[in-house]
Amino acid sequence: MNDLELQKVAKLIQSANHVAVLTGAGISAESGMATFRDPLTGMWAHFRPEDLATPDAFRRNPAVVWNWYMQRRQSAIKALPNPGHRVLAWLETKVPRLSLITQNVDNLHQSAGSSNVVELHGSIHRFKCFENHHAIPIELADASPEEPPQCPSCKSLARPDVVWFGEMLPELAMNRAIGSAQTADLFLVIGTSGVVQPAASLGITAKRNGSKVVVINPDPNAAMAGEIFLQGPSGVVLPRLAEAAWGVDQSFF
Ligand code: OAD
Repeated sequence: MNDLELQKVAKLIQSANHVAVLTGAGISAESGMATFRDPLTGMWAHFRPEDLATPDAFRRNPAVVWNWYMQRRQSAIKALPNPGHRVLAWLETKVPRLSLITQNVDNLHQSAGSSNVVELHGSIHRFKCFENHHAIPIELADASPEEPPQCPSCKSLARPDVVWFGEMLPELAMNRAIGSAQTADLFLVIGTSGVVQPAASLGITAKRNGSKVVVINPDPNAAMAGEIFLQGPSGVVLPRLAEAAWGVDQSFF
């Protein structure tokens, strides 16, 4: 990572009134959670999204889809937030306004202490029924790890409250995310390949509205033309940024 760029971002973050952050699977990689598109370890390197993450896949084989999500829920429960998550939670106490938007469904930002997290793709720790979207009690879901239980109200099958391909994003979350992108003066894009819409457009919205955009990612291909790029894992880059901006020792995180 280029030290000059790091210093530049440190100055931007110190002087920002509203910092908005978009995170993706990469921020949870150092907590042991698989990303989607890593060519070797990514989930979509081993499974086809159309077999596991669409309404049609659930209609065809509800038990397979259910079981896959229940296993991912167990991995997320065992995972601990890493320094990247912890810096973002701490940042709430340092900048006048922080908006945290995530595509992740693992709850690790909340475990690290972030409040008001905008979950664009839902949560793997909530359940609803397939037909009518009635909330399903978590105990009912956990009692049936192999097959989706029936909704107590309408008998439709339970499903995770996540966004599948082909589904709309939750309107409130999307509106909050767009509002933050429009009003932020600094927009951080962390650990996302930026290929899934509409989340991928938020950085562009921010830029059009006059925000500086900073990309944090170990993959040099993630650099966006014209944006500031801090190359490296977020669990390393974010503590270094906190140190550069506020002098706090990296080991604090
Ligand atoms: P991806 O798997 O597409 O991208 C993960 C990004 O994280 C890549 O750019 C990696 O280079 C980067 N990365 C890996 N390790 C990292 C680390 N230690 N620190 C920082 N970055 C790191 O995941 P997303 O962009 O989150 O949607 O994927 C977006 C959506 O596609 C997901 O929410 C999911 C998926 O299909 C749905 O299921 C609807």
